[in-house]
Amino acid sequence: MNLIVGKEHFSENVVKLEIEAPRIAKARRAGHFVIVRVDENGERIPLTIAGSDLKKGTITLVVQRIGVSSDKLTSLNVGDKVCDVVGPLGQATRIEKQEGTVLCCGGGVGVAPLLPIIQAHKAAGNRVVAVLAARNKDLIILEDEVRKSADEVVIMTDDGSYGKKGVVTVGMEDVIAREKVSEAVIIGPAIMMKFGALTTKKYNIPTIVSLNTVMVDGTGMCGACRVTVGGKTRFVCVDGPEFDAHQVDFDEMLRRMAGFKAEEQEAYKAYIDKK
Ligand code: FES
Repeated sequence: MNLIVGKEHFSENVVKLEIEAPRIAKARRAGHFVIVRVDENGERIPLTIAGSDLKKGTITLVVQRIGVSSDKLTSLNVGDKVCDVVGPLGQATRIEKQEGTVLCCGGGVGVAPLLPIIQAHKAAGNRVVAVLAARNKDLIILEDEVRKSADEVVIMTDDGSYGKKGVVTVGMEDVIAREKVSEAVIIGPAIMMKFGALTTKKYNIPTIVSLNTVMVDGTGMCGACRVTVGGKTRFVCVDGPEFDAHQVDFDEMLRRMAGFKAEEQEAYKAYIDKK
């Protein structure tokens, strides 16, 4: 059992949770994720670690309410416990000293897993420009934390309610036009990562994406998180979550995610009706 020691609402459906998990807090690196179960019969929820506090022995997770399990998790409060937190899982981000800028792009709750990557690139001595994108101002999260670490922050909103009006790729193109970008990291909704990857491909900029597929066991056995990367089957839970963006078959991934979404929505509707 892991105790929840902090909770903050970023928006109606996005919550930051600080959970006691001292061993994970110590071992985790940028890019790692955990799998949380709210109760014994609960689904496993994969969540990338947004931060940790070694003194308190806690990790920070950002959870978006999208279905039954995430609804249960975001409904918990300080003092409540989750059944278990397993991790750190996955491969850590490869951080190397770069000649040029590292362009870190986050969409929606994708900014949470992006934050430790930004921090790690800064610690490696890289210049980091962050592009944070969301539908509107209220959905931009962790801006202050990103500002503390990145050299520059560009905000993009679809409706122009904050920063510049436009999608993430508009902000990316602006940065690429004015400075040498050596590497890009893009984390957000699958469709955003697809178009972000197409943008950097035009300029031959090596690009990493962190994939957010459905996961079940998190051990490479069940196949739920299967993706095709460079024509080969890979499992996000053990081979990822980060992959070469230019090799990922996003169309297949989007199709698979859409299939799961219909089932999830049905289950969520039944759960809300019962609530
Ligand atoms: S979650 Fe089952 S194989 Fe990755």
